[in-house]
Amino acid sequence: MAFLVITGFLFFLWFISLFKVLLLPRIPFAKHFTHNGRAFRKRNVLLVIAHPDDESMFFTPTINFLTSKGHNVQILCLSIGDADGKGKIRKQELFQACVALKVPMQQVKILNHPDLQDGFGKVWNHSLLAKIIEKEITNCCIDMIITFDKYGVSGHCNHRDVHYGVTKLLHDTLQRDIEVWELVSTNILRKYSGPVDIWLSIFLAMLHSNGTMQCLVNVDSRRSFIAMAQHSSQWVWFRKLFVALSSYTYMNTLRKAEIQRIIQTVGTLDKKTSYCGGYGMCVLIVTHYNYTLL
Ligand SMILES: *[C@@H]1O[C@H](CO)[C@@H](O)[C@H](O)[C@H]1NC(C)=O
Ligand SMILES: *[C@@H]1O[C@H](CO)[C@@H](O)[C@H](O)[C@H]1NC(C)=O
Ligand SMILES: [Zn+2]
Repeated sequence: MAFLVITGFLFFLWFISLFKVLLLPRIPFAKHFTHNGRAFRKRNVLLVIAHPDDESMFFTPTINFLTSKGHNVQILCLSIGDADGKGKIRKQELFQACVALKVPMQQVKILNHPDLQDGFGKVWNHSLLAKIIEKEITNCCIDMIITFDKYGVSGHCNHRDVHYGVTKLLHDTLQRDIEVWELVSTNILRKYSGPVDIWLSIFLAMLHSNGTMQCLVNVDSRRSFIAMAQHSSQWVWFRKLFVALSSYTYMNTLRKAEIQRIIQTVGTLDKKTSYCGGYGMCVLIVTHYNYTLL
């Protein structure tokens, strides 16, 4: 009996939350990305990711939100995701996913650098990353970067290195007028709570009344599934499950990278090689193959 009540309650909670997610985009929210000060300012946003499918698996709420508000979104993917030798296919899949996400193909750049290859335990050079990203910023007049935080959602070392590369860039060019926002990694409970995480996400964003944390709600969650489905070589049952259960399908909490924090991080950066941990879905499926899962 108790089991039925709990299950019933969870279903109820899920649907109420889903309803909230569907409704919320109609309410003015995430003010920072809609009105900056008094006037609306169109931003050139660069989303920096490590692998084809990171954009669909983690960042669709952000992409959908920003494009729906008229911002210009560009994607820089630092590898073709060749850990399983499917790099060429995965590159094409990323272009297709971007069509689904309404990011024009010419605004998507995918690198295949010999020193930046997909893989668990492949350490990416932070200075090299910073150099590459800086070039992209200059070429495309970027004024906002969005990327992983230092845990990198799934703990994949490539995600974390991308974060450190951006951090290094920000540290080396402090005078630049560029905003960096990082995708907040949540604990495993929040991560797999689907739309239910909306309540806590909104609450946490509200706690930061100075606007350093923003909750972007997906204006079209269906598009996340469509985009992820373009990654056919990755679209296996457990990833389908992931996309349905993941809170990253429904919302993104972004935290503004603050200069003070950056300086502290970079101070310790050189001693650090990225820790290739990650529990995430790996708790569920622990095989060598699945480390590229997220
Ligand atoms: C990292 O990249 C920078 C810039 O390309 C290069 O100068 C440096 O030697 C590289 N470091 C290592 C350990 O490869
Ligand atoms: C913004 O608020 C948060 C939490 O209240 C605080 O930790 C952070 O330092 C503040 N940042 C700035 C720039 O005031
Ligand atoms: Zn990835």
